[in-house]
Amino acid sequence: MKLSVSLPPFFFFFLLLLLLHTPQTLALNPNCEAQDQGSDLKVFHVFSPCSPFKPSTPLSWEETVLQLQADDKARLQFLSSLVAGRSVVPIASGRQITQNPTYIVRVKVGTPPRTFLMAMDTNNDAAWLPCDGCVGCSSSVVYSPVKSISTRNVNCGAPQCKQVPNPTCAGSACAFNLTYGSSSIAANLVQDTVKLAADPVPGYAFGCIQKTTGSSVPAQGLLGLGRGPLSLLSQTQHLYQSTFSYCLPSFKALNFSGSLKLGPVAQPKRIKFTPLLKNPRRSSLYYVNLIGIRVGRRIVDIPPAALAFNPTTGAGTIFDSGTVFTRLVEPAYIAVRDAFRRRVGRNLVVTSLGGFDTCYKVPINAPTITFMFKGMNVTLPQDNLLIHSTVGGITCLAMAAAPDNINSVLNVIANMQQQNHRVLYDVPNSRLGVARERCT
Ligand SMILES: *[C@@H]1O[C@H](CO)[C@@H](O)[C@H](O)[C@H]1NC(C)=O
Ligand SMILES: *[C@@H]1O[C@H](CO)[C@@H](O)[C@H](O)[C@H]1NC(C)=O
Ligand SMILES: *[C@@H]1O[C@H](CO)[C@@H](O)[C@H](O)[C@H]1NC(C)=O
Repeated sequence: MKLSVSLPPFFFFFLLLLLLHTPQTLALNPNCEAQDQGSDLKVFHVFSPCSPFKPSTPLSWEETVLQLQADDKARLQFLSSLVAGRSVVPIASGRQITQNPTYIVRVKVGTPPRTFLMAMDTNNDAAWLPCDGCVGCSSSVVYSPVKSISTRNVNCGAPQCKQVPNPTCAGSACAFNLTYGSSSIAANLVQDTVKLAADPVPGYAFGCIQKTTGSSVPAQGLLGLGRGPLSLLSQTQHLYQSTFSYCLPSFKALNFSGSLKLGPVAQPKRIKFTPLLKNPRRSSLYYVNLIGIRVGRRIVDIPPAALAFNPTTGAGTIFDSGTVFTRLVEPAYIAVRDAFRRRVGRNLVVTSLGGFDTCYKVPINAPTITFMFKGMNVTLPQDNLLIHSTVGGITCLAMAAAPDNINSVLNVIANMQQQNHRVLYDVPNSRLGVARERCT
């Protein structure tokens, strides 16, 4: 690059100021610096230019897809373990699975505040952050209790200590262990002020990770949006009344951020709803009643058992922010895929790409797919159904059957299928809403 010699000295001074003012960042991209307003947090894809977790060398399209599929495998195994109520056996894999969270939000923690890019997880309850001195954490951005004047430990006798998994006492302070994906986490339970957009939440209880193994733990922590104990919903009940919505930007539109809107006030009024189902055994998961699937205008013939909700086995359908590509239990997926292939054209050659088994090397005329939930039909346009490589000229149906090494009973409506929609979680009224929206 050729620099013009005629640039005035203040230009360099200005550049230096900018660099000094953006210690944790990233690019000089105005999108990344815009502050969160009100109760709305910007949501970034992990591959966004604003994300420190984006691959250091840009991945090719194909590598990106395969990476996302590998992450999904770990995610699905984790979800299956939640459903089955037992911890997971890590998947055997030729390489390390870095289960990157797909979407991150900016959260300020402590006094003075430190910014963390925390993974959003709708199917996990508690929040946790890498703690100063953590063994096994990968992040240099850590929460340091000694540097925050508003921090305090949670005592063993405190009610919050009864809500964490496997609580123990370290002196009089509450500590706990949990598994996340293929990782184990040992953390102290602490409380500090957490700032969500413009809203300070004093005394927010979260895990301060002391030790972790494996690579499933999001580097700068996790914000649990489940509906169980210690989740964001339960700790901000007075502020947000267990209501939130998000719009997830497409991973192709890397310069776009989406939003996480907290609280009932600014939620869309024109939106369709389906009831949320309660599974007392898996209280943090957001189950809905998927009653059928349409390809084009034809309702696909799916065995009812493949869609039925069963609180005992955990079978049914959930919405998840952390899985990328929708997974259906095998009989449902095969029926949908076959109907899709028939509509695209019997005479076209079908190929595969990684875990996708319905790909074409020629341009196709694809039908829409409609998820028919109780009380709400959601018709997905091509952007939510197909992935295209611009260079290789391959197009795939971006859904799959549950991985075959997982004995899965769960249908997961994943984030690619939710992108550019507003998804509203209205827990007090026990319903989930979906409306088209272009995330900007
Ligand atoms: C993203 O935004 C940056 C800064 O505004 C710009 O330089 C870049 O070209 C944009 N990238 C895309 C893919 O639009
Ligand atoms: C939690 O993990 C720590 C460190 O790995 C271990 O020493 C402790 O026994 C574990 N506690 C429980 C309750 O599993
Ligand atoms: C969804 O679509 C089906 C089939 O096309 C139709 O019978 C049903 O009434 C629709 N449901 C809603 C809530 O619009």
